[in-house]
Amino acid sequence: MNKKTVKDIDLKGKKVLVRCDFNVPMDENQNITDNTRIVAALPTIKYLLENDCAIILCSHLGRPKGEFKPEFSLKPVAKELNNLLGKEVIMANDVIGEDAKTKATNLEQGQILLLENVRFHKEETDNDSAFAQELASMAEVYVSDAFGSTHRAHASTAGVAEFLPAVSGFLIEKELKFLGNAISNPERPFVAILGGAKVSDKIGVIDSLLEKVDTLMIGGGMAYTFFKAQGYEVGNSICELDKLDLAKDLMKKAEEKGVKLMLPVDTKIGKEFKPDTESKTVAWTEIPEGWEGFDIGEETIKQYMEELQKAKTVIWNGPLGLFEFDQFAVGTNSIAKALAEIDATTIIGGGDSSAAVKKIGLEDKMTHISTGGGASLEFLEGKALPGIECLLNQ
Ligand code: 3PG
Repeated sequence: MNKKTVKDIDLKGKKVLVRCDFNVPMDENQNITDNTRIVAALPTIKYLLENDCAIILCSHLGRPKGEFKPEFSLKPVAKELNNLLGKEVIMANDVIGEDAKTKATNLEQGQILLLENVRFHKEETDNDSAFAQELASMAEVYVSDAFGSTHRAHASTAGVAEFLPAVSGFLIEKELKFLGNAISNPERPFVAILGGAKVSDKIGVIDSLLEKVDTLMIGGGMAYTFFKAQGYEVGNSICELDKLDLAKDLMKKAEEKGVKLMLPVDTKIGKEFKPDTESKTVAWTEIPEGWEGFDIGEETIKQYMEELQKAKTVIWNGPLGLFEFDQFAVGTNSIAKALAEIDATTIIGGGDSSAAVKKIGLEDKMTHISTGGGASLEFLEGKALPGIECLLNQ
């Protein structure tokens, strides 16, 4: 990485503002249901503690649209951090208000303060310079460790770097190492598996990966747009009619680049969008009217698993079916199990595919699970990430 990290500057005893991505899932009672992103922030926090820093943490949670909403409070995160670190985490009642400022001013070396949700101010997502300056005024150094938010040019992810020396934490360093190596120097064969509902969400990433991979496997809802583009009916399956030409272009590009593009050869279809709906498996060319495709079929699973046996690097982004419903989770789970067993570097790009891997307890079997959904996709697309661009160069 050509950006400075916490190891490259003198932080000893300083007051440090750390942007984390504590945007974690919670249930209706504000209990955190997956603390991965909080755990991922610990190495940087511990390093700063070892260096006698006074640590001011900030993050967003959800999309409260610039207003205070109690259900988007970061208080549960403060509690979780407290438990994980075995150390008090002081919670501010606001972001740049009197409470935050007083607590930040009085913060001593070795203490940790968590500001309230930065998105309680619309200035955050507007990347308002005055707001960024207010945040910056509380500290002497800015550390970005919010990999999952680096694709956002917001005040706390990018704007603040105008006012403070800005370096990355260990999480960003790690994410860039795994994702970056896979993209720039993959051991081959290099396979990408892309799923998810829509082709339109993944156009950039498919296009960019076609320049790099040996094999591209498609699954999930977006497969049906590829079927339709080839002139077959897809029943009630998700299908983007305005993306048929694009799907054809991507297929052509794969051929020109010599990339093996694998599309499902069969699909598990259901009558209705409900867990116990009547279902059956049909060939990809034979989806009847009134049915909807919800998963890849057994033959596809077999073909994909065979191909994966040969892979040396695999990147997976997006579930291959409606994995929230058990009977349509077979494709996603089978691919996760195959990845857990093969002798290859396996990288899971955040969001739903990570959730699927965790749901069946295979997270320890993967080389790297990214904490970034949108951010890892944009990285794979080759886009510049504002939250990284703004950091000091080496
Ligand atoms: C994420 O969960 O992908 C990040 O925290 C960014 O959240 P956002 O999509 O609301 O900006």
